[in-house]
Amino acid sequence: MLQLNIVNALCLQILFSSIASAGPLDTAPKYQALPPLREQAVIQDALRDQRVSNIPHILQKYGVDAWLMSQKEYAEDTVFWSLKSATQFSARRRTVQLFLANATAGVKSAYTWIDNTPKVWSDILEVLEEQNPASIALNIDTDISFSSGLHAGEYETIIGELGEKWSKKVVSEPMVAVEYIGTMVKERLPWYRKLQETAWAIISEGFSEKVITPGKTTTEDVEWWMREKIQQLNYTTWFMPSVNILDDKDIFGSGTEIKSGAIQYGDVLHVDFGVTALGLNTDTQHLAYVLHPGETESDIPQGLLNGLKTANRLQDIVKSNMKIGSSGNTILKNALKQMHSEGIEGKIYSHPIGDWGHSAGTLIGMSNQQDEVPVLGDLPLLDNTYYSVELYATHFVPERNATMYFYLEEDIYWVDEGKRWDWVYGQQKKFHLVRPQGAKAGELFRVQSP
Ligand SMILES: *[C@@H]1O[C@H](CO)[C@@H](O)[C@H](O)[C@H]1NC(C)=O
Ligand SMILES: *[C@@H]1O[C@H](CO)[C@@H](O)[C@H](O)[C@H]1NC(C)=O
Ligand SMILES: *[C@@H]1O[C@H](CO)[C@@H](O)[C@H](O)[C@H]1NC(C)=O
Repeated sequence: MLQLNIVNALCLQILFSSIASAGPLDTAPKYQALPPLREQAVIQDALRDQRVSNIPHILQKYGVDAWLMSQKEYAEDTVFWSLKSATQFSARRRTVQLFLANATAGVKSAYTWIDNTPKVWSDILEVLEEQNPASIALNIDTDISFSSGLHAGEYETIIGELGEKWSKKVVSEPMVAVEYIGTMVKERLPWYRKLQETAWAIISEGFSEKVITPGKTTTEDVEWWMREKIQQLNYTTWFMPSVNILDDKDIFGSGTEIKSGAIQYGDVLHVDFGVTALGLNTDTQHLAYVLHPGETESDIPQGLLNGLKTANRLQDIVKSNMKIGSSGNTILKNALKQMHSEGIEGKIYSHPIGDWGHSAGTLIGMSNQQDEVPVLGDLPLLDNTYYSVELYATHFVPERNATMYFYLEEDIYWVDEGKRWDWVYGQQKKFHLVRPQGAKAGELFRVQSP
C-alpha cells in the first residue's frame, strides 16, 4: 500500500514534468487499476458479442456451413472459454453451441442450448433440416489444441444423435477455431495496452532498489514479490514469474545449471512475466542491471548495452518479417536468414497471445525447433491478432570475457490502418536499473524510447 502511494506520487511528478512531450512511452509505466467486476463483465461481454458476430464470416472464409460444439459441465471444449459470457464459470448440464455461415433471412446464425434432456438434439435436428448445411465442422483436429476440444465421449454422442444423414456432413476445419480465438477486435486494444503497462510497471518496481537489496534479496524473493503485487492489483497470471541471474548459459537450454541465490552488484537480471485480466494475457521478458555503489546509468558496461541493442535489432527483424498470410515457418526462415546476414546469433520462438498466453495461430519457431515447427508452423499468419515476439540474441561481452544471452519478449498488435505490426506498449531499449540504496527517487524512472 505504501509502495503504491509512493509510486503514484512519483507518477504525478513525472506527468507534470513531461506534459509537453506527452505520449505513453515518455513516462514511467503506471499501475492501471481495473474497473469493478460488474463493469468488467459489461466490457468483456460487449467484446465477446462483437467477436461472436464475426463467426459467420469465418465460416464462409473456410467454406464451412455450420460449426457445432457440445460439452458437459467441467469437460469444456477449448473454444468454450472464448465464447462464454463473463458470468459463466463453466459449461452446465450439456451446453451446445451451433453457428451457421449462411442462415436464411429471419433465421438466427448463433444458437446455445443448456439442457440435459433429449430435446436439445431434436431442436438441433430441426435447425439442420431447415437450414440444410452441406458441412458441419466439429473440433476434432489431431494436432491443434484450439481445434481439438471436442471430448471423445461427446463426439460419439453427437454422431449417434445426428444420425447417418447429418453425421456424413461432419468435417474438421481447424482454422475455424484458430481464427475465432486468434482474432482480436479493435476495442480490445486499449485494455490490452493497460494490462501491458501494468506488467511493465510491476517489472520496473520489482527490478529496482525498492525490492532488491544486493547481497540479500534472492531471485525467488523477487518472483514472489511479483506474485503478491499482481494479487494486490486484483489481476491474476497464467504462469509463475521467473527471475534469473544471467551468465553465459542458456536458461531455456536443457540441463544447464541456472545461477540463483542472492542478487549481487553487477548482476544482469532477467524476468519472464505475464498478467491476466479481462480475458486477456500478456507475456514480457525484460533485463535489468544492478549498479555498484557509487555507479550511475553511465557505468553500465558497454558490452551489455551492445547486447541489448543486438537483441532489439533481432526483435525488429522478426516484426518486419511477419507478413500476413505467410506461414510461421516461412517467417522463421526469412527472419533467421536476415539475422545471420546481419551477423547476429540467436534464436526465435514467437507465438500468438490473447485469450491464452500461448494462443491460437501459427508459431514462429520454438526454442527447440529452429528449422521448422511441424503443423503449427505451417498455419498462415492472421491479421487482427496479437503476437509475443520472443527471442534471444547472444553477444560477446568483453567486460565479462563471455558470450551472454540477451532474452527479450514483447507483445505486438496488428495495425490494420497501417498494415504493420506495432508494440502494444513499448520495446525495452534500456536496462531496468537496481540503483544503490539511497539513490534519488527521481532517478528511478528511465525514458523508454519508442
Ligand atoms: C454461403 O452463401 C454464399 C452466397 O450465396 C455462397 O457464396 C457460399 O458458398 C455459401 N456457403 C458458405 C460456407 O459460405
Ligand atoms: C482491488 O479490489 C478491492 C476489492 O474490490 C478494492 O477495494 C481495491 O481498491 C482494489 N485494488 C486496486 C489496486 O484496484
Ligand atoms: C577469456 O576466456 C577464455 C575462454 O574461456 C580464456 O581462455 C581466457 O584466458 C580468458 N581471458 C581472460 C583475460 O580472462
